[in-house]
Amino acid sequence: MAKTKKKVVIGNWKMNPATLADAKKIFTGIKKTANTLKKVETVIAPPALYFTELQKAAQKSSLALGVQDTFFVEATGSHTGFISPLMAKNAGAEWVILGHTERRVQGETNEILNKKLLAAVKVGLKVAYCIGEKERNADGSYLEFIKNQIKLGLSGVEKKSLAQIAIAYEPVFIIGAKEAMQARDIHVMKLYIQKILIELFGKDDAANVAVLYGGSVNPENTEAIMKEGEVDGLLVGRDSLNPENFGKILAIANRIK
Ligand code: PGA
Repeated sequence: MAKTKKKVVIGNWKMNPATLADAKKIFTGIKKTANTLKKVETVIAPPALYFTELQKAAQKSSLALGVQDTFFVEATGSHTGFISPLMAKNAGAEWVILGHTERRVQGETNEILNKKLLAAVKVGLKVAYCIGEKERNADGSYLEFIKNQIKLGLSGVEKKSLAQIAIAYEPVFIIGAKEAMQARDIHVMKLYIQKILIELFGKDDAANVAVLYGGSVNPENTEAIMKEGEVDGLLVGRDSLNPENFGKILAIANRIK
């Protein structure tokens, strides 16, 4: 991502909270902070059931909405329980999170995710494509694992669509943990991801892909992750449900160059 672009901070609410009333309360709290920030694109990905109500609440604010998954059939069809990218787009979604580890463990492969990604990009959604190793092995084979996730997931993507894609690097063992990955290690992985993107798309076009970090981000570690990790943004789980903490994360991201 070019340096002049806004930072992207995505809150993934996962299967939370239990009521629409609570969702609205959290959303309103986040909106207050988000509206004051110029250098951050704030995205909330709520459960799909709350999407339309929150979309109304997001009118005239600087908050963007996302969904947590979309299917690889673009428009409509006999696919019980799925949401199409076109439906999400028409409902007002700007973003979709694809390939979160909590979905990969349900059987989503890089090949399935590739089809989902191409369909989402085609209808004009921006995609946060999640990747990340399950563990670190001494022989370094996790690097090959990451490379495959990127290569297969982005297979067939046209260069002109790359600005619609963000890679969200989330080491699986650090999601829902006590501490985030060390900022210098995040930086190494960011460089590695960029190197793969350059191999695939060339230097100029690869620079259009944002690289985000996710995994136990909180107000205390945001500055180091953004500054030393030099990532283009964040994917936040737990703390995106806490307006105070998420507000702090957003404000820190906003003031980092
Ligand atoms: P966490 O979740 O911030 O609660 O660790 C991150 C994620 O799952 O994307």
